[in-house]
Amino acid sequence: MEPSNIVLVGFMGTGKSTVGKTLASRLGWKFVDTDALIEERQGMSISDIFATAGEKAFRDIESETIAITLDGTRQVIATGGGAVLAEQNRKVMQARGWVVALTADAETIISRVSQDQNRPLVQGDVKERVHTLLETRKHAYDFAGKRIDTGSLSVEEIVAEIVAAMP
Ligand code: S3P
Repeated sequence: MEPSNIVLVGFMGTGKSTVGKTLASRLGWKFVDTDALIEERQGMSISDIFATAGEKAFRDIESETIAITLDGTRQVIATGGGAVLAEQNRKVMQARGWVVALTADAETIISRVSQDQNRPLVQGDVKERVHTLLETRKHAYDFAGKRIDTGSLSVEEIVAEIVAAMP
């Protein structure tokens, strides 16, 4: 039996959105990026939500968005890197989907997130912030049903690996 949804989790810059789009089109499923959905629903960028309402408010909106999205089926859902921190989110992801964790090494992550201003948690000393957060979240993605190190793989190869492992 195919899973109702595929939920991509992983640290910032591991390729969840890029992989998710290609995977969704391969399966003929809908692609949902929860960060993009949050921005659309709130009418402002993730950075502005953090700046004006704070991280706690963002996390509440994120949990609500994940719960609403996971009501649907046949979706590939790319989640924000911190979405796995709340137990309620992990539970709904597992109950309503197959969770796939994407990983990448610190250098890859640093080079990817350095190019993006819309990541409030890694502003300033990006290197230091990424290393600290990676350490804090070392086991945050362990609950996933499948883990893929994206380091040496192309998007096509990652998608093929996910499709081949689909329960
Ligand atoms: C966050 C990751 C971001 C975004 C927000 C917080 C995090 O998503 O949700 O800036 O806590 O790791 P990406 O993983 O898509 O960058």
